[in-house]
Amino acid sequence: MAKGIRIAIDGYSSTGKSTIAKALADRLDYRYIDTGAMYRAITFWALKNGFIGNEQFKSDELVESLQAVKLDFKHSAKHAKPVIFLNGENIEDNIRGAEVASNVSHVAKIAEVRKFLVKQQQAIAAAGAVVMDGRDIASVVMPDAELKIFMTADPNIRAQRRFEELERLGQAMDFKDVMANLKERDHLDTSRKESPLIQTEDALVLDNSNMTREEQLNLAEAWAKDRMV
Ligand code: DC
Repeated sequence: MAKGIRIAIDGYSSTGKSTIAKALADRLDYRYIDTGAMYRAITFWALKNGFIGNEQFKSDELVESLQAVKLDFKHSAKHAKPVIFLNGENIEDNIRGAEVASNVSHVAKIAEVRKFLVKQQQAIAAAGAVVMDGRDIASVVMPDAELKIFMTADPNIRAQRRFEELERLGQAMDFKDVMANLKERDHLDTSRKESPLIQTEDALVLDNSNMTREEQLNLAEAWAKDRMV
Protein backbone atom coordinates (compact mmCIF):
# COMPACT_ATOMS: atom_id res chain seq x y z
CA MET A 1 0.00 0.00 0.00
CA ALA A 2 1.23 3.52 -0.82
CA LYS A 3 2.62 5.35 2.18
CA GLY A 4 1.09 8.71 1.27
CA ILE A 5 2.47 11.70 -0.58
CA ARG A 6 4.61 14.57 0.70
CA ILE A 7 3.04 18.02 0.54
CA ALA A 8 5.19 21.16 0.80
CA ILE A 9 3.49 24.47 1.61
CA ASP A 10 5.63 27.59 1.44
CA GLY A 11 4.75 31.25 1.50
CA TYR A 12 4.96 34.65 3.15
CA SER A 13 4.16 35.10 6.82
CA SER A 14 0.51 35.58 7.85
CA THR A 15 -0.86 34.00 4.69
CA GLY A 16 -2.62 31.35 6.78
CA LYS A 17 -0.23 28.56 5.75
CA SER A 18 -0.38 26.79 9.09
CA THR A 19 -4.19 26.82 9.23
CA ILE A 20 -4.52 25.26 5.79
CA ALA A 21 -1.61 22.88 6.24
CA LYS A 22 -3.01 21.56 9.51
CA ALA A 23 -6.58 21.24 8.20
CA LEU A 24 -5.34 19.50 5.05
CA ALA A 25 -3.30 17.05 7.14
CA ASP A 26 -6.40 16.33 9.26
CA ARG A 27 -8.51 15.65 6.17
CA LEU A 28 -5.92 13.30 4.68
CA ASP A 29 -4.98 11.77 8.03
CA TYR A 30 -1.37 12.86 7.43
CA ARG A 31 1.23 14.20 9.81
CA TYR A 32 1.47 18.00 10.03
CA ILE A 33 4.81 19.71 10.66
CA ASP A 34 4.97 23.46 11.30
CA THR A 35 8.64 24.22 10.57
CA GLY A 36 8.17 27.90 11.51
CA ALA A 37 7.47 26.67 15.05
CA MET A 38 10.91 24.99 15.01
CA TYR A 39 12.68 28.27 14.11
CA ARG A 40 10.55 30.06 16.71
CA ALA A 41 11.50 27.43 19.32
CA ILE A 42 15.21 28.00 18.70
CA THR A 43 14.61 31.76 18.98
CA PHE A 44 12.78 31.25 22.29
CA TRP A 45 15.71 29.10 23.49
CA ALA A 46 18.18 31.83 22.43
CA LEU A 47 16.22 34.53 24.29
CA LYS A 48 15.83 32.35 27.38
CA ASN A 49 19.55 31.60 27.53
CA GLY A 50 20.66 35.17 26.93
CA PHE A 51 22.17 34.59 23.48
CA ILE A 52 19.95 37.42 22.25
CA GLY A 53 19.57 40.58 24.30
CA ASN A 54 21.17 43.93 25.16
CA GLU A 55 21.59 44.64 21.44
CA GLN A 56 23.87 41.60 21.21
CA PHE A 57 23.48 38.38 19.34
CA LYS A 58 25.83 35.64 20.45
CA SER A 59 25.23 33.40 17.47
CA ASP A 60 28.32 31.23 18.02
CA GLU A 61 27.13 30.39 21.54
CA LEU A 62 23.67 29.66 20.22
CA VAL A 63 25.07 27.27 17.60
CA GLU A 64 27.19 25.49 20.21
CA SER A 65 24.18 25.07 22.48
CA LEU A 66 22.09 23.33 19.83
CA GLN A 67 23.35 19.93 20.91
CA ALA A 68 21.34 20.43 24.12
CA VAL A 69 18.10 21.14 22.23
CA LYS A 70 15.53 18.43 21.65
CA LEU A 71 12.39 19.34 19.72
CA ASP A 72 9.27 17.19 19.40
CA PHE A 73 5.77 17.69 18.08
CA LYS A 74 3.26 16.17 20.45
CA HIS A 75 -0.46 16.44 20.94
CA SER A 76 -1.49 19.07 23.47
CA ALA A 77 -4.90 18.65 25.07
CA LYS A 78 -4.92 22.37 25.93
CA HIS A 79 -4.30 23.41 22.32
CA ALA A 80 -6.26 20.53 20.77
CA LYS A 81 -3.51 19.97 18.20
CA PRO A 82 0.09 18.78 17.93
CA VAL A 83 2.39 21.55 19.18
CA ILE A 84 6.10 21.97 19.71
CA PHE A 85 7.91 20.80 22.84
CA LEU A 86 11.40 22.01 23.74
CA ASN A 87 13.27 19.56 25.96
CA GLY A 88 9.96 18.12 27.11
CA GLU A 89 8.22 21.45 27.77
CA ASN A 90 5.17 22.63 25.80
CA ILE A 91 6.27 26.08 24.53
CA GLU A 92 3.44 26.77 22.07
CA ASP A 93 2.26 29.81 24.07
CA ASN A 94 5.80 31.20 24.34
CA ILE A 95 6.62 31.25 20.64
CA ARG A 96 3.71 33.22 19.13
CA GLY A 97 4.30 36.63 20.71
CA ALA A 98 6.03 39.77 19.49
CA GLU A 99 9.43 39.13 21.14
CA VAL A 100 10.02 35.85 19.32
CA ALA A 101 8.47 37.23 16.10
CA SER A 102 10.83 40.20 16.00
CA ASN A 103 13.95 38.05 16.48
CA VAL A 104 13.17 34.88 14.56
CA SER A 105 14.35 36.13 11.15
CA HIS A 106 17.83 36.69 12.57
CA VAL A 107 17.95 33.17 13.97
CA ALA A 108 16.56 31.67 10.75
CA LYS A 109 19.41 33.08 8.69
CA ILE A 110 22.12 31.18 10.59
CA ALA A 111 23.33 28.33 8.37
CA GLU A 112 24.04 25.96 11.28
CA VAL A 113 20.56 26.47 12.74
CA ARG A 114 19.02 25.68 9.36
CA LYS A 115 21.20 22.59 8.94
CA PHE A 116 20.21 21.37 12.41
CA LEU A 117 16.48 21.78 11.71
CA VAL A 118 16.44 20.67 8.05
CA LYS A 119 18.03 17.36 9.04
CA GLN A 120 15.16 16.69 11.47
CA GLN A 121 12.56 17.82 8.93
CA GLN A 122 13.98 15.51 6.26
CA ALA A 123 13.96 12.56 8.66
CA ILE A 124 10.23 13.16 9.28
CA ALA A 125 9.50 13.67 5.56
CA ALA A 126 11.13 10.35 4.66
CA ALA A 127 8.14 8.50 6.14
CA GLY A 128 5.75 10.16 3.63
CA ALA A 129 2.11 11.08 4.38
CA VAL A 130 3.18 14.51 5.57
CA VAL A 131 2.13 18.14 5.15
CA MET A 132 4.99 20.48 6.02
CA ASP A 133 4.81 24.26 5.92
CA GLY A 134 7.58 26.85 5.96
CA ARG A 135 9.74 28.90 3.58
CA ASP A 136 12.23 26.42 2.09
CA ILE A 137 10.19 23.23 2.10
CA ALA A 138 9.80 22.90 -1.69
CA SER A 139 13.27 24.24 -2.44
CA VAL A 140 15.46 22.58 0.21
CA VAL A 141 13.69 20.25 2.64
CA MET A 142 11.60 18.19 0.18
CA PRO A 143 12.69 19.16 -3.35
CA ASP A 144 11.03 15.97 -4.61
CA ALA A 145 7.69 16.48 -2.81
CA GLU A 146 4.74 15.20 -4.87
CA LEU A 147 2.78 18.43 -4.29
CA LYS A 148 4.19 21.92 -3.75
CA ILE A 149 1.90 24.83 -2.87
CA PHE A 150 3.03 28.46 -2.70
CA MET A 151 0.68 30.59 -0.59
CA THR A 152 0.33 34.31 -0.97
CA ALA A 153 -2.18 37.09 -0.20
CA ASP A 154 -2.57 40.85 -0.41
CA PRO A 155 -0.20 42.51 2.16
CA ASN A 156 -3.07 44.57 3.65
CA ILE A 157 -5.10 41.45 4.28
CA ARG A 158 -2.09 39.66 5.79
CA ALA A 159 -1.34 42.61 8.09
CA GLN A 160 -4.99 42.67 9.20
CA ARG A 161 -4.81 38.94 10.05
CA ARG A 162 -1.62 39.45 12.07
CA PHE A 163 -3.15 42.52 13.79
CA GLU A 164 -6.13 40.40 14.91
CA GLU A 165 -3.87 37.54 16.02
CA LEU A 166 -1.82 39.91 18.24
CA GLU A 167 -5.05 41.33 19.71
CA ARG A 168 -6.17 37.80 20.55
CA LEU A 169 -2.80 37.20 22.26
CA GLY A 170 -3.31 40.40 24.30
CA GLN A 171 -0.37 42.08 22.53
CA ALA A 172 -2.20 44.70 20.45
CA MET A 173 0.02 46.88 18.24
CA ASP A 174 -0.68 49.81 15.89
CA PHE A 175 -1.73 48.61 12.45
CA LYS A 176 1.09 50.56 10.83
CA ASP A 177 3.66 48.86 13.07
CA VAL A 178 2.19 45.46 12.23
CA MET A 179 2.47 46.33 8.53
CA ALA A 180 6.08 47.54 8.94
CA ASN A 181 7.00 44.32 10.80
CA LEU A 182 5.40 42.20 8.08
CA LYS A 183 7.27 44.05 5.31
CA GLU A 184 10.54 43.69 7.17
CA ARG A 185 9.96 39.94 7.61
CA ASP A 186 9.07 39.56 3.90
CA HIS A 187 12.27 41.36 3.01
CA LEU A 188 14.42 39.26 5.36
CA ASP A 189 12.76 35.98 4.31
CA THR A 190 13.22 36.62 0.58
CA SER A 191 16.61 38.30 0.59
CA ARG A 192 18.62 36.19 3.03
CA LYS A 193 21.60 34.25 1.72
CA GLU A 194 20.65 30.92 3.34
CA SER A 195 17.61 29.23 1.76
CA PRO A 196 15.54 32.35 0.99
CA LEU A 197 11.81 32.05 0.43
CA ILE A 198 11.28 31.37 -3.28
CA GLN A 199 8.42 30.17 -5.41
CA THR A 200 9.74 27.06 -7.13
CA GLU A 201 8.82 26.53 -10.78
CA ASP A 202 6.82 23.40 -10.01
CA ALA A 203 4.72 24.99 -7.22
CA LEU A 204 0.99 25.69 -7.55
CA VAL A 205 0.08 29.20 -6.38
CA LEU A 206 -2.71 29.63 -3.87
CA ASP A 207 -3.60 33.34 -3.48
CA ASN A 208 -6.11 33.36 -0.64
CA SER A 209 -6.81 37.12 -0.47
CA ASN A 210 -10.45 36.52 -1.33
CA MET A 211 -10.99 32.89 -0.46
CA THR A 212 -12.69 31.30 2.51
CA ARG A 213 -10.87 28.69 4.55
CA GLU A 214 -13.18 26.02 3.12
CA GLU A 215 -12.48 27.08 -0.48
CA GLN A 216 -8.72 26.96 0.10
CA LEU A 217 -8.97 23.59 1.75
CA ASN A 218 -11.11 22.10 -1.02
CA LEU A 219 -8.67 23.34 -3.64
CA ALA A 220 -5.60 22.03 -1.79
CA GLU A 221 -7.32 18.69 -1.20
CA ALA A 222 -8.22 18.39 -4.89
CA TRP A 223 -4.59 19.07 -5.83
CA ALA A 224 -3.43 16.45 -3.32
CA LYS A 225 -5.90 13.80 -4.55
CA ASP A 226 -4.76 14.51 -8.09
CA ARG A 227 -1.16 13.69 -7.08
CA MET A 228 -2.10 10.47 -5.32
CA VAL A 229 -3.19 8.57 -8.43
O1 DC B 1 5.91 30.55 9.51
P1 DC B 1 6.35 31.38 10.70
O2 DC B 1 5.93 32.82 10.64
O3 DC B 1 5.98 30.75 12.00
O4 DC B 1 7.96 31.39 10.63
C1 DC B 1 8.73 32.03 11.58
C2 DC B 1 10.05 32.50 10.97
O5 DC B 1 10.87 31.38 10.67
C3 DC B 1 9.95 33.34 9.73
O6 DC B 1 10.64 34.57 9.93
C4 DC B 1 10.66 32.58 8.67
C5 DC B 1 11.39 31.48 9.37
N1 DC B 1 11.24 30.20 8.70
C6 DC B 1 12.24 29.80 7.86
O7 DC B 1 13.20 30.53 7.65
N2 DC B 1 12.16 28.58 7.25
C7 DC B 1 11.13 27.77 7.46
N3 DC B 1 11.07 26.59 6.86
C8 DC B 1 10.07 28.18 8.32
C9 DC B 1 10.15 29.41 8.91
